[in-house]
Amino acid sequence: MASRDTVLVTSRDLEDTLRIGETLGQLLNSQHLVCLSGDLGAGKTTFARGVGRGWGTTQRITSPTFTIVNVYQRPDDQQQLYHIDAYRLHSSDAVFSIGFDDILAAQGPILIEWPQHLLSVLPKDCLWITLEIQDDDEQRLLTFEATGPIHQDLLQCFNQQMVNWK
Ligand SMILES: Nc1ncnc2c1ncn2[C@@H]1O[C@H](COP(=O)(O)OP(=O)(O)O)[C@@H](O)[C@H]1O
Ligand SMILES: [Mg+2]
Repeated sequence: MASRDTVLVTSRDLEDTLRIGETLGQLLNSQHLVCLSGDLGAGKTTFARGVGRGWGTTQRITSPTFTIVNVYQRPDDQQQLYHIDAYRLHSSDAVFSIGFDDILAAQGPILIEWPQHLLSVLPKDCLWITLEIQDDDEQRLLTFEATGPIHQDLLQCFNQQMVNWK
């Protein structure tokens, strides 16, 4: 752990990324916003799929590339999980085209791929995850950064869950 607000995790393969995402997903509540940054093929959607499992949806999370926003429910409490792909969006029109303000106000956690496209409309407090492809084709470096108190708490809980991670 580089600092109190940064956590580094290495994923060796797809299964690792799913499990790391699942660990985070178990901790998410409606206050949380998770930004997934990284090149095409870095594993953002794979990570999101793991998050969905941990959070408790029985639906399989797929890429929102064409739909831009996918909404998932979990059977326990009918809460909704929002998964956005902002690749084709720009901050100025996101608010209108996908109703970003309504999504922010909704009762469910939010995952955003290509969050750098929405920088000017993102809340200050979020969990920013950067996924980087390493020399080994299957290895990924995941850097978790909390940018405010709500997500510092989340990251601390996540880090505790990850102590036994190899
Ligand atoms: N450690 C890893 N974590 C996640 N995906 C991996 C890993 N190693 C290889 N892959 C492959 O990389 C691709 C990641 O795809 P995807 O999750 O859709 O990326 P993104 O959403 O960032 O474009 C998949 O084809 C997956 O099989
Ligand atoms: Mg993707």
